[in-house]
Amino acid sequence: MENKRIVTGDRPTGRLHIGHYFGSLVNRVKLQDKYETYILVADVQALTDNFNNPEKVRKNVRELVIDYLSCGIDPKKSTIYIQSMIPETAELTVFYSNLVTIARLQRNPTVKTEIAQKKELFGESVTYGFLGYPVSQAADITVLDGEIVPAGEDQEPLIEQCREIVRKFNSIYGEVLKEPQIYLSENKRIKGLDGNDKMGKSLGNAIYISDSPEEITKKIMGAVTDPARIKKDDPGNPDICMVSYYHKLFSSEDECKTICEECKAGKRGCVACKKQLAKNTIEFLRPMREKREYLEAHPEIVDEILKEGTAKAKKEAEKTMKKVKKAMKLGY
Ligand code: TRP
Repeated sequence: MENKRIVTGDRPTGRLHIGHYFGSLVNRVKLQDKYETYILVADVQALTDNFNNPEKVRKNVRELVIDYLSCGIDPKKSTIYIQSMIPETAELTVFYSNLVTIARLQRNPTVKTEIAQKKELFGESVTYGFLGYPVSQAADITVLDGEIVPAGEDQEPLIEQCREIVRKFNSIYGEVLKEPQIYLSENKRIKGLDGNDKMGKSLGNAIYISDSPEEITKKIMGAVTDPARIKKDDPGNPDICMVSYYHKLFSSEDECKTICEECKAGKRGCVACKKQLAKNTIEFLRPMREKREYLEAHPEIVDEILKEGTAKAKKEAEKTMKKVKKAMKLGY
């Protein structure tokens, strides 16, 4: 075990898809053997853009934890906890809010993109809470001394902002906080079934860890292939085909090679190719689906993991806050 700590997490707003899986979960599963790991269910952050829908957030807390456990996050190695149960984070967020300017938050590329996407919710003026969520995320990470954050590349600007806050804090109050760094996966971003650069719920182009075999087949049968290929014996271009792209994730190297050659030679129809991909994807996700079904039938297991994890995280957060307050001359 290395002595650096991991802190990472997700907003509980929906189920995890294979973009999450390859983008960050694989790394978290691998790294939990090497580093002490804390994974937060970011319900407070989820409310920043779902304040009008608390039911949705509540419902997805357990779903998210079930996805984590199904994908191989081991509660013996990783501490899974609920963000809102660690009020120290909220307190630290207030302290940090003096160390970051509004202009800097408005320049954060991730926040900027999200605000543009959420016009319907925010109208012409974004809320203080949403604009400030990077500050709260900096508190999530640093309140547990997180130094490594395995996450998708969209999180990069948030980690950069956290690093700036840490440096500013340490330069004013003394060396108390640790500066984290992001840990990106090799598969930075998985494209959607429609070829869109991003896989996402709102785009309707995702395969979820929890999808049934029937759903997986249906989605894959609708995936985008080479549009120039009309007849089965037309030569295809696998480089612009989403089915070929996913084969690389779910099928063996040998299969991929054959598929590619046959497609280019016009010897393999798209339907057969999709069926084979569906079969391999279903097989790949089978252990996760089975684990999921078991946990859905045993919610008490999930609740116990969250209870224990939250208690452990809270103790650690209290320790950090003692140091923070002392440094800020607030230690009464
Ligand atoms: N921003 C992350 C998301 O969009 C969730 C999150 C909250 C997080 N706090 C974090 C991620 C701390 C990594 C570290 O899902």
